[in-house]
Amino acid sequence: MLVLGVETSCDDTCAAVVSDRGVFSSVVSSQVDVHAKYGGVVPELASRSHMKNIVPVIEEAIALAGVSIKDIKGVAVTKGPGLMGSLLVGIEAAKGIAAANAVPIVGINHIEGHLNAITIEQGVEYPHIALIVSGGHTSLYLVRGFGEYELLGRTRDDAVGEAFDKISKAMGLGYPGGARIEKFAKEGDPKAFRFPKANMGKGSLDFSFSGLKTAVARQIKGFENGEIPVSDIAASFQAVAVQALEEKAVTAALKHKVSLIVLGGGVACNETLRTSIKEKAGEHEISVAYPSKTNCTDNAAMIAAVGRRKLLDGANHGFDFSALATWPL
Ligand code: KG4
Ligand code: ZN
Repeated sequence: MLVLGVETSCDDTCAAVVSDRGVFSSVVSSQVDVHAKYGGVVPELASRSHMKNIVPVIEEAIALAGVSIKDIKGVAVTKGPGLMGSLLVGIEAAKGIAAANAVPIVGINHIEGHLNAITIEQGVEYPHIALIVSGGHTSLYLVRGFGEYELLGRTRDDAVGEAFDKISKAMGLGYPGGARIEKFAKEGDPKAFRFPKANMGKGSLDFSFSGLKTAVARQIKGFENGEIPVSDIAASFQAVAVQALEEKAVTAALKHKVSLIVLGGGVACNETLRTSIKEKAGEHEISVAYPSKTNCTDNAAMIAAVGRRKLLDGANHGFDFSALATWPL
């Protein structure tokens, strides 16, 4: 079954074609140039860019897959959570294609996409712990099987990717910040500054990054009239953020007696997180798996992969559903 996936929840316009033989095409049109000068995503500009890009991106995904629109047997689109205007552009385009071709359509939760992105590339054992870390989300799930997700913990304030982005902005490194912080951190001393790790109380699997972000921002302000030690600050911040993520993920795996942790979301591109969590989990004979970087960041292949499973089960959400800006999984 050939499925078209559409994802427009934030600032990337994405379309993909997948089948039981894998991903035929996955196109991501980035809006980084549109938002960079504002240091973050401007929702109205994101909607407008999606409007401009959605048809060419879908056409490109179909062309790259080497198929015709007539071969598409189902459509999967991100229904939420995300920016309302952005989501609506993808949903209406997807509905139009489903209607014109008389094929079923399913609305997919963006987080469920990230949770299953790994399955595009490899099989995974169940149950496992999933750590989803992105610009909008920082959550830990116990995944018992496809469609069976139990939320174990989440951030009580900022998402970890948001903290990377804001600290990058505060040091004038630009947007998006994650990869830039990582680059500078490579040259820095992670012990140069002592930033606080949030204490969430005994047994809690929740996260908090606003205290860390504020402490780092205060440190940066202290260098206002001098040169900011960018690499040392980046390395010291990244070390604390990564430590918080891996500690909770390993604690969750031990608590639920599972031997696999799966990563997903844009921050899972971070090499320090990848290496460090592997080491820490390895001490307890827990393995760690993560998708390639293009399947960590937002993409439509992960939406199509989840949608395909639901379509094969006979799901069809019809044309009455709409976007959900918030939608807990
Ligand atoms: O999953 P994603 O593409 O979009 C959301 O759903 O938010 O994640 C984007 C986030 C941004 O905050 C970006 O700074 C962060 O992922 N990110 C990274 C890295 N690459 C992207 N954070 C840390 N290290 C990286 N290498
Ligand atoms: Zn995402």
